[in-house]
Amino acid sequence: MCGIVGYIGHRQADALIIKGLERLEYRGYDSAGIAILSDSLSIWKKKGKVAALREEIANNNTTGMVGIGHTRWATHGEPNDVNAHPHTGGNGRLALVHNGIIENYAVLKNALIAEGHRFESETDTEVLVHLIEEIQDEGDLALEEAVRLALMRVEGAYAIAVVDSRNPSVLVGARKASPLVVGIGEGEYFIGSDASPFLDSTRRVVYLDDNQIATITLEKGLEIKNTENESQPPFIQELDMQIEALEKNGYEHFMLKEIYEQPTTIFDAMRGRISSKENRVTLRGLEEYANRFVRANRIIIVACGTSYHSGLIGEYLIEDLARIPVEVEYASEFRYRNPILNERDIVIALSQSGETADTLAALELAKQKGAMIYGIVNSVGSSIARLTDAGSYIHAGPEIGVASTKAFTGQVTVLTLLALSMAQKLSTVSNTTFQTLVTELESIPEKVKECLKADEHIRYIAKEIKHHHNALYLGRGYNFPVALEGALKLKEISYIHAEGYPAAEMKHGPIALIDETMPVIVTATNQSAYEKIISNVQEVLARKGVVIAVVPKGETAISSMAHHVIEIPATEEQLSPLLSVIPLQLLSYHIAVELGRNVDQPRNLAKSVTVE
Ligand code: G6P
Repeated sequence: MCGIVGYIGHRQADALIIKGLERLEYRGYDSAGIAILSDSLSIWKKKGKVAALREEIANNNTTGMVGIGHTRWATHGEPNDVNAHPHTGGNGRLALVHNGIIENYAVLKNALIAEGHRFESETDTEVLVHLIEEIQDEGDLALEEAVRLALMRVEGAYAIAVVDSRNPSVLVGARKASPLVVGIGEGEYFIGSDASPFLDSTRRVVYLDDNQIATITLEKGLEIKNTENESQPPFIQELDMQIEALEKNGYEHFMLKEIYEQPTTIFDAMRGRISSKENRVTLRGLEEYANRFVRANRIIIVACGTSYHSGLIGEYLIEDLARIPVEVEYASEFRYRNPILNERDIVIALSQSGETADTLAALELAKQKGAMIYGIVNSVGSSIARLTDAGSYIHAGPEIGVASTKAFTGQVTVLTLLALSMAQKLSTVSNTTFQTLVTELESIPEKVKECLKADEHIRYIAKEIKHHHNALYLGRGYNFPVALEGALKLKEISYIHAEGYPAAEMKHGPIALIDETMPVIVTATNQSAYEKIISNVQEVLARKGVVIAVVPKGETAISSMAHHVIEIPATEEQLSPLLSVIPLQLLSYHIAVELGRNVDQPRNLAKSVTVE
């Protein structure tokens, strides 16, 4: 993970870089650091959040119009000042920031030690900057050439930015399997792990491809070469992203803002793609490859974290409506278990960031084996979006809270559209069912607004149950993945142990845990197997569990038994996850706030997991 920023231009670099790092803090917040070039190289680094670094720098006079910065999610070496980036070579001339992992760092380090290099940190990154320095000194090379030759000896993933006090008017960046984007302003250039650090200055961007090295000078501008030393013309794009999307806009936390954005983001995921009047669902990416989908033997969905849970809902939807067999796999497992794949398979990658290393690697494997790959992604221009044969963006806008909320409902919305579109093409649902579902889907944003009205009541429930150390989430059918997602949300931001279970499976283990200290959150919005869910609730109550039930408005059977009831609007079963997940997001949010947790930046987590 980690976020990196670079600047070269006519303004003081430190303030721009610090602000950029704050925008990238969702990528990691174990430590932060900055290197500024003027006559010499000045470096500040600090364990903890960017705010600590900001304070440190406030007491110093940092001047310089070239610089790099880093916010860290630790891989090699604990989070402390020494392991914080930027790292320097032995003679202190070069400074480098890095997102990724240098896999062969141990071999390189031993070779460099044999050459007389001494290392201060435990990081793989320090090895890379020493290697660049060694190569540069050996051949008296320009910075970009030394970087290129060093990268040819490196195995692993990297996005880097490097400065050299001997060449103070050049900024070099490079990427392989970790994202890097160059922003082109008026007489100034930026580097970022994404475009958020420099959106207030420019929307003109160049996304680097793997194995590309960007050399930026104010005289010649941006020049790109690959590691084979071939020039590559930059492809400049204009981003369509609003700066307000990166601010809290009066909400206490980004997560709360993003929960409240869902009526809009779900609508945006459907915009132009659905019409009950015209009786149609159209996903452009799908239309182009409709034949492949129609002939597909099966669909395999690969994803991680919350995206994996929306994938499970996708499985239920596609099998239920379009009758195509679906498997859902954790990307990390899929890629290492020698899966059977061929040209008749379609692999769908679900990813908010579009940068998750395991999902990317799973896609590369699927591509090698000839499967068609389709992406359902939020971040426009991200690595996954660019690797896939076709795909659909979810258009949720930047998601900044580390715990995913609006991206989840955006993914589920697009998966619903995909299932409906396929169902229509394959005639696997009646026209009446299709019409009912499309009409109901159009009403979901309004119904999400209704769900949000339970916020105060949910805050009250959060206060009641916040002291418990465990929680169990139960759901059947479409609500089983919702139970998994509810439990994940609670773990992520409140650090309370929680498990999601299919309600009927409770009897095969978790029931042994139930007593008066165990809150059990039951999502019971199903029309099918309702009697069975009632029995499951009774089984919990018989063992003195504390039942919190999410039920459709007007429900009486479970409501009369449960300790706490959260009502949500009724909807078609296939669409129920889009509503039932909302109270679970709010419950986790309020419990975390009550416990004084850092909701947007929970410990040990990062939003974009670019390491395997
Ligand atoms: C991290 C994030 C999760 C996210 C998961 C997958 O663990 O903290 O919120 O669900 O990565 O990320 P992706 O960007 O691929 O959806």
